[in-house]
Amino acid sequence: MKKHILRERSSSSGAARPPVGVEIAGISKSFGAQQVLKNIHLSIKPGEIFTIMGPSGSGKSVLLRLIAGLDQPTRGTVRIEGLDPAEPDTRDRFALALVFQAGALFNSISVYDNLALYLLEHRLCPKKEIRDRVMRALTILSLENAAQKYPSELSGGMKKRVAIARALVMEPQLLLYDEPTSELDPIMGATISEIIATLKHEFNVTSIVVSHDRDLALTISDRVALLMKGEMRALCTPDELRRVEDPAVKDFLNPTIDLKKPRYQQLETS
Ligand SMILES: Nc1ncnc2c1ncn2[C@@H]1O[C@H](COP(=O)(O)OP(=O)(O)OP(=O)(O)O)[C@@H](O)[C@H]1O
Ligand SMILES: [Mg+2]
Repeated sequence: MKKHILRERSSSSGAARPPVGVEIAGISKSFGAQQVLKNIHLSIKPGEIFTIMGPSGSGKSVLLRLIAGLDQPTRGTVRIEGLDPAEPDTRDRFALALVFQAGALFNSISVYDNLALYLLEHRLCPKKEIRDRVMRALTILSLENAAQKYPSELSGGMKKRVAIARALVMEPQLLLYDEPTSELDPIMGATISEIIATLKHEFNVTSIVVSHDRDLALTISDRVALLMKGEMRALCTPDELRRVEDPAVKDFLNPTIDLKKPRYQQLETS
């Protein structure tokens, strides 16, 4: 990562905006008869790296979408600096960016255009500043040479980095990552973890990371929440999580393979 570039900010407003906190009060979310999240309370501090772990289907992405204001809870509230992120007129009051689980890149346009698109469409800053912001984000993620490539021409690891670069272009105060290291080899997974930690320190951004990645959760997080079946099973620091005695938490962090009691025979039908 290009250290000297990290400290510069291009926004015409000058100084970087401070990181924001997130207050989640008693949220539940149902889709029809299925209750996906059950009475979740969370207070995420400004500048924190907060990781949400949990088995597949436990409601992690749903929770992240609620924090991003892309969906609304069935019950309870999400507040970012006291504002409801799902309200359209709060959108320009704080800068929030989401790195989607599958990248969500537009395949028919170049990497450069993927990064510039939102700023251009919403006329958020002059063209020269857009170019500066895009090139800076690409440089930070070591993607300068990929600017004119199309997403189909990139490896999985490069796509993840492009998705992070696209979020950085927003100069966010709150950065949400959905599975940033999934489908990557261990070295690239560790690289992305280092990038997330470095961005937090250099940009002073609040980071919420949804991940199955035990190494990421236990290494770079300030705190970790473990969601199971839509409920908060643990909420603690990485050190505390390593010492938790709850068998379900221990099993999640260090699963054993037991062919005498195979897990696939205990899967719930969805
Ligand atoms: N828009 C939707 N409509 C109906 N059901 C949904 C919707 N979004 C999510 N769900 C359901 O909510 C549950 C939780 O989904 P979610 O995507 O949050 O899981 P997850 O914890 O992110 O899993 P994974 O680790 O596999 O990404 C699943 O049973 C899913 O089918
Ligand atoms: Mg998910």
